[in-house]
Amino acid sequence: MSRITPSSFDAESVRSQFPVLNRELKQGRPVFLDSAASAQKPSAVIAKEREVEEQYFANAYRGRYSFGARIDEELEASRKKIASFIGAASGSQIAFTAGTTLGLNQVAFGWGRSRLQPGDEVVITPMEHHANFVPWQQLVRETGATLKMLPLTADGRLDVTAFDDVITRRTKIVAVCTMSNVLGTVNPVSDLARRAHHVGAILVADGAQSVPHSPTDVLSDDVDFLVFSGHKIYGPTGVGVIYGRADRLEEIEPIVFGGHMISRVTMDDSEWADTPARLEAGTLPIVQAIALGTAIDWVNQTGLESIHAHEQSLLAEATRRLMEIPGMRIYGPSPQYKGAIIAFRVENLHPEDLAAMLDRRGVFTRHGHHCTMPLHELLGVTATTRASFAAYNTMEDVDKLVHAIQFAREKLRLV
Ligand SMILES: Cc1ncc(COP(=O)(O)O)c(C=O)c1O
Repeated sequence: MSRITPSSFDAESVRSQFPVLNRELKQGRPVFLDSAASAQKPSAVIAKEREVEEQYFANAYRGRYSFGARIDEELEASRKKIASFIGAASGSQIAFTAGTTLGLNQVAFGWGRSRLQPGDEVVITPMEHHANFVPWQQLVRETGATLKMLPLTADGRLDVTAFDDVITRRTKIVAVCTMSNVLGTVNPVSDLARRAHHVGAILVADGAQSVPHSPTDVLSDDVDFLVFSGHKIYGPTGVGVIYGRADRLEEIEPIVFGGHMISRVTMDDSEWADTPARLEAGTLPIVQAIALGTAIDWVNQTGLESIHAHEQSLLAEATRRLMEIPGMRIYGPSPQYKGAIIAFRVENLHPEDLAAMLDRRGVFTRHGHHCTMPLHELLGVTATTRASFAAYNTMEDVDKLVHAIQFAREKLRLV
């Protein structure tokens, strides 16, 4: 593969495809640094949603008329695109869900509830988003199993030397984010999958943060389940994906019951449809699931490898510039171990006040615990400010972030 240099990536041209980023605010163009929460959508995705709504909308997998048939075709095409994007063999291994949160709950309760018993262990990490924390906490409470943590190093990476002590014959499930939504840390998923499988456990990957930003290969990583959300990959809200290794997906029991997920219902009992339908009770987020396929097309056309290289160069530059600011503390490892997310605090500046000051300069960041309260407890802070980058961010955005923080320090007389 030819090496992609960041300079070959035309971020301005990418940015111009995102209507909301072309708005002129009184401070100028918005500097959007909150893509780890939700990314913006390119015109192609918005146009696809509009096309479906205006041209052939109908419910899915129900109608014999032409609109219904077109919707079914589009949904299946979207499944195939998603499967190939993450290296899965077949579209039938892709179940649509409402997002990462519901997907992880379906895996936890649909796979774990009937398999865990007292003495069994579920292994997660302290850097998990609440979506990959709370369901396991609830599940072990219900089943009598135990929740264990893989420890972190001082710079916020998983401590590889502790893996064999924590992942043991008692472990039934290892559930880990592929990339932290706060520290940015990229985790060694294939190594964890290998160790999990060695002790007879499964590996559940929360791919919400990494799938939009770097190539995913579920086969070479050998994950049992991978879950992610549409709205973080330039697609719509309300849709997400559960990928499952073919045999594993069959093992998930439905936790939501109703229409579409059955093959037969009698007065006394019901039988389930094949996967993925049995995990998709009720009406799907039809327009969103189709437009997620368009978002994947957009990422493929733009080039995920070059998006990744571009974001990593923004990360390196932003880290270097931010570290020059007096009182700056960045949480997480150095850029070589992470994706393009920077959580930080500036001495004597509350993260919320800082985010509000940045907003005055048209720089949109997020403050708070970012749905990782246990991690923040470990870091000894209640909140951080977070800047996260995507394909449409530019070096000018980095510059504006740095200047806006300097502006905040001046306003609050910290200089
Ligand atoms: C790592 C991670 N997991 C899970 C989620 C939850 O995603 P959703 O809100 O789309 O269900 C997020 C959202 O920020 C996340 O960053």
